[in-house]
Amino acid sequence: MSATTESGLPATAIGPRPHSPLTVLVPTYNEAENVRPLLSALEAALDGLPAARVLFVDDSSDGTDELIRELAPTLGIEVGVLHRAEPAGGLGGAVVAGLAAAETPWCVVMDADLQHPPELAPALVAEGERTGAQLVVGSRYRAGHRAEGFTGPVRSLVSRLCTRLVRLAFPRTLAGITDPMSGLFAIRRDLWERAELRPEGYKILLELAVRTRPTVVAELPYRFRPRHSGESKAGYAEGVRFLRHLIRLRLSGPRGRMLGFLLIGASGTVPNLLATWLLIRLGVHYLLAAIVANQAAMLWNFLLIDLALFHHRRTGRPAWRLARFALLANADLVGRIPLLSLLVHDTRLGPIWASGVTLLAACAVRFVIADRVLYLPAKAEASSS
Ligand code: GDD
Ligand code: MN
Repeated sequence: MSATTESGLPATAIGPRPHSPLTVLVPTYNEAENVRPLLSALEAALDGLPAARVLFVDDSSDGTDELIRELAPTLGIEVGVLHRAEPAGGLGGAVVAGLAAAETPWCVVMDADLQHPPELAPALVAEGERTGAQLVVGSRYRAGHRAEGFTGPVRSLVSRLCTRLVRLAFPRTLAGITDPMSGLFAIRRDLWERAELRPEGYKILLELAVRTRPTVVAELPYRFRPRHSGESKAGYAEGVRFLRHLIRLRLSGPRGRMLGFLLIGASGTVPNLLATWLLIRLGVHYLLAAIVANQAAMLWNFLLIDLALFHHRRTGRPAWRLARFALLANADLVGRIPLLSLLVHDTRLGPIWASGVTLLAACAVRFVIADRVLYLPAKAEASSS
């Protein structure tokens, strides 16, 4: 749809022009070789748009930021650089830092390596204005366009599989987005301002789409071109980060959190019942066995809940958190032990099965207390969920 040049070098501004001021946000990590051609392409693309500017969020060590500062005065557009001392959150963290610093009602996020056509930047915002969308995604998978910028069939396949997985995990939220893994998109201020974001590595669009839940989204197709210069900064570690990000996102809503809590609680029954069984075999009375086994399960659950599920809501020292948690996990013994003894005496359940039943009941009660008392949500999340 857009007249992209084969070389990735300057194209003339094309397509519909936006009315709103916009910032083109470019995360950079050692892109010194790409900055010059990117900036001249952006200069051409943004020509005649007085309120458009470019903001680099840079984590480089190769002098990319100095080069940008050197080039900026020679260009007909406003160019800024935000160099970060600490690359917190990687690519996603850089984008969020840029959004926080941007002053315009729209931002276009774009890679520095010319894999994303710079001339599409104004068109993405214009599409948002035309359709009323708060999020406009540049898609590699829309009709007529092939993603040829991948560095081989394996990366192309991996990207497609990840896209499938992500759309499967969020079928409703991502219904209108064919390329949720895209690094090219335009976003409207009201959307990013009201969200509490926790970016983690590359998939910042996914983070934004899931946590901000835009009501209207639009897409524009584009051709994903090969990198102009240098190599992708994504490696194996970025893949692991992506999976962790996806799990965190999936467990982030109240329902997801409850599901996570139940799963962790359920997994705790394994060490619990195992210890109970072992102790009973060793001749320990089943009620005492249940009490001791509870400590094994408590530690197991605490590790998973404190390290993963409520990781972002932690306050206070670890010892204090463990003490509170131990209290909560053992308080249920007050209810569980009489219930267990009742079940063993008055039903035909054996002690192990009866133990299982009491664990299930206790888990539900515990979730409510953890979610509402121990790990209080931050204010922004509380008001948005
Ligand atoms: N500031 C900052 N900090 N920038 C980073 C970092 C970082 O830690 N890591 C990467 N970048 C910058 C790169 O310099 C580049 O401008 C852009 O982010 C994308 O990095 P690449 O290494 O070129 O990523 P890719 O080509 O493998 O994948 C990109 O395109 C895909 C398709 O649109 C990413 O945007 C993916 O998220 C996207 O799926
Ligand atoms: Mn790239």
